[in-house]
Amino acid sequence: MTLPPSPPAGLFIAFEGGDGAGKSTQAALLTAALRADGHVVLRTREPGGTPVGEKLRSLVLDHGQGEIDARCEALIFAAARAAHTAQVIAPAVARGEIVISDRYIDSSIAYQGAGRGLGTAAVRQLNEWATEGLWPDLTVLLDVTPEDGRDRRTAADAAEDRLESEPDDFHADIRHSFLELAAAHPERYLVLAARLPIPELAAAIHARVLALRARLGAGRT
Ligand code: TYD
Repeated sequence: MTLPPSPPAGLFIAFEGGDGAGKSTQAALLTAALRADGHVVLRTREPGGTPVGEKLRSLVLDHGQGEIDARCEALIFAAARAAHTAQVIAPAVARGEIVISDRYIDSSIAYQGAGRGLGTAAVRQLNEWATEGLWPDLTVLLDVTPEDGRDRRTAADAAEDRLESEPDDFHADIRHSFLELAAAHPERYLVLAARLPIPELAAAIHARVLALRARLGAGRT
């Protein structure tokens, strides 16, 4: 019996990095480049990406919501992620699309696990449960120092949310945690210095994604 042809291989790519790393710029450039190559790309972000996720986003990021302790914060991010994975990411990957998410589980491990001191193992476990173990095929880590991140946020002149307004040593813990995650699984990460020129970063990311797409596409058909 001949099996029907497999659907095209979907791909899930996450952008991670400290506040002010330039993730949104690079996610937008990668989306445009892949669409120009003819791929169907779904660009999304965390927290958010679904109606309930957007509500949870303002709950956890806006100032003036009253006290939100660390465990509550971790659970809100994980709840938003559960909806995002089930409603948006997993279905799109199953349709063969390329999903590009601005932040994913690593942000919770770094910000809540390391930054808030909840422990990286506990936060990982919570999020593996929330997402039924869906990990990205590739995580692009834009590595930014706390000082550079702060300078870039100041230059952008945007109001800082609850997490961004934490002090530099909080952001240093986060940076260290992201780098540790990448070092543990180098095959699933592309780590780039956020200071590099924007076009140089964009070219390196695009090349890596095309190589991955070719490899996974060949493997899955
Ligand atoms: P956002 O405006 O998306 O920041 P950025 O443009 O830097 O990505 O706000 C997201 C903030 O929420 C950011 O400070 C990181 C934080 N965050 C967590 O603490 N845990 C998480 O799981 C996620 C997804 C984000």
